[in-house]
Amino acid sequence: MTTLSQSPAPEKTDAPAGTAPVLAVRDVHISDRVGDREIVHGVSFELTPGKTVGIVGESGSGKTLTCRATLGILPAHFEVTAGAIEIAGTDIATLTPREWTELRGATISAVFQDPASYLNPSIRVGAQIAEVVRVKKGLKRREARQRAVELLHAVQLRDPELVYGQYPYELSGGMLQRVLIAAAIAADPRILIADEATTALDVTVQAEILDLLAELRERAGLALVVVSHDLAVVAQLCDEVLVMREGEVVEHGPTGEVLHHPRHAYTRLLIAEHEEYGLEKFRTPQEAS
Ligand SMILES: Nc1ncnc2c1ncn2[C@@H]1O[C@H](COP(=O)(O)OP(=O)(O)OP(=O)(O)O)[C@@H](O)[C@H]1O
Ligand SMILES: [Mg+2]
Repeated sequence: MTTLSQSPAPEKTDAPAGTAPVLAVRDVHISDRVGDREIVHGVSFELTPGKTVGIVGESGSGKTLTCRATLGILPAHFEVTAGAIEIAGTDIATLTPREWTELRGATISAVFQDPASYLNPSIRVGAQIAEVVRVKKGLKRREARQRAVELLHAVQLRDPELVYGQYPYELSGGMLQRVLIAAAIAADPRILIADEATTALDVTVQAEILDLLAELRERAGLALVVVSHDLAVVAQLCDEVLVMREGEVVEHGPTGEVLHHPRHAYTRLLIAEHEEYGLEKFRTPQEAS
């Protein structure tokens, strides 16, 4: 399945040379105003349609803060103190709250680790997706419902009509994550950020969700940012990878090169740890969630 020796996804979706990046992160620094300390010390990458960039690194290294900065949802006392982020050519520092609302979902969207906490437990999941479609795409109630069922189908839920009418507690972790992906792609975003989106899932379901993301990327030219502590996930999905440690990017390059010819001692350590513990994980049969 997903091992390090596997080469990165074939470059079927190679964008023509000179394609403008849909996301550009330029030397972004993020500080905690309350603690008066800088936490992210300069992250840069560019993402073109149909491509995937991965961010790996130890817990607390600033991966999620980088994603949240890109989505304009940093925690209260955090701010971008230097650098710039451009989404589809627009510097996000210039966006009004209203423009942010338009951009979120429609241009940039995200899926996080704990799907249950992003869904309303007392509303049927289909209705929650239909609501996104209604608000973001301006569809009428009936069309929105139909579109929501199509989206549940697109994320490979076996019986979309049935799932439409179910409550979050009736679904498994893997199914919930698919529902969240359906909601995240409901407004046809150009960029999807998946922050540890498969971490909580068992290995089989994780592999299915990764395949789904790859398929969406191929089909819709989606640009993906994949955050994972799991190098196998990165090996399977990403064209290039950033390795973060304590708020610094210690290594950044094409996935194959970083994984097979790591330059930084920390990257070598991550790979060694993966080889020690990671492979074991893939051999352990686990119950479906
Ligand atoms: N809401 C918050 N309030 C206070 N500190 C925070 C908050 N979010 C992040 N931090 C701090 O910022 C640092 C970077 O956090 P971040 O969530 O970006 O790490 P991460 O690389 O995503 O880690 P993990 O792999 O555990 O998800 C952490 O050390 C943490 O102390
Ligand atoms: Mg995180």
